[in-house]
Amino acid sequence: MDEMFVAASGVGRDFSDGNLDRVTVLSDVDCDIGSGARIALVGPSGSGKTTLLHILGGLDKPTSGRIEWPGLGPFEELRPRNIGFVFQSPSLFPALTAAQNVSLPMILAGAQDVAERTAASILEAFGLGELADKLPEELSGGQAQRVAMARALAIRPKLILADEPTGQLDSVTAQLFFDTVLERIENTESALVVATHDEAVAARMVTRWTLKHGRLKKAAAPSNEAG
Ligand SMILES: Nc1ncnc2c1ncn2[C@@H]1O[C@H](COP(=O)(O)OP(=O)(O)OP(=O)(O)O)[C@@H](O)[C@H]1O
Ligand SMILES: [Mg+2]
Repeated sequence: MDEMFVAASGVGRDFSDGNLDRVTVLSDVDCDIGSGARIALVGPSGSGKTTLLHILGGLDKPTSGRIEWPGLGPFEELRPRNIGFVFQSPSLFPALTAAQNVSLPMILAGAQDVAERTAASILEAFGLGELADKLPEELSGGQAQRVAMARALAIRPKLILADEPTGQLDSVTAQLFFDTVLERIENTESALVVATHDEAVAARMVTRWTLKHGRLKKAAAPSNEAG
């Protein structure tokens, strides 16, 4: 049976700009994320994708409406155990190697015993094994993004929120990378939400959420056979 991981209703988010005017980024957004969801979050630059992902991940609070995480445990336990977050901006710890970065959430969640081995194997699965001992400053932007995605997936969170994870990859590398991402969560209850400008990546999701003028529209992904 489908389990509900996140339920958001009437969510709004506005910010004050430099002149203390309010700017509405999200208004009256209703959305649910259930187990096994595969959602592409699309919309023009500045349409609020990052803002919505941060709210869904409990990193930011809506200014109106409600958000709950019924299937993901109490708020304090959302991250890193139950929600894996891949940030749009560089997020690897600069003093830690790629492998140590991937191990860290597992160590924080109390899985020290398997952290090192799991980190090595997931980096290998992503074709990043040779980068394991490198520091973030020695990685290209696209390599760092893939390491950040591996870090989010390693702990097998129930929900993965990824903010433009292929933004710095060429289209062939992006597709191969996504093969591995989808394989990793196939036949699990994990849900995946990907904010993306990459239509080829968006087409591999089952559901498409489009943000425009602060509103969220939901539809089946056009190229997905599941329709
Ligand atoms: N902390 C903040 N303070 C003020 N305005 C903000 C803040 N965070 C985001 N905004 C504004 O909210 C709007 C949406 O930003 P957001 O980063 O969510 O867009 P996005 O869809 O992720 O864009 P992109 O595709 O470029 O990543 C923008 O106009 C941005 O300036
Ligand atoms: Mg963004």
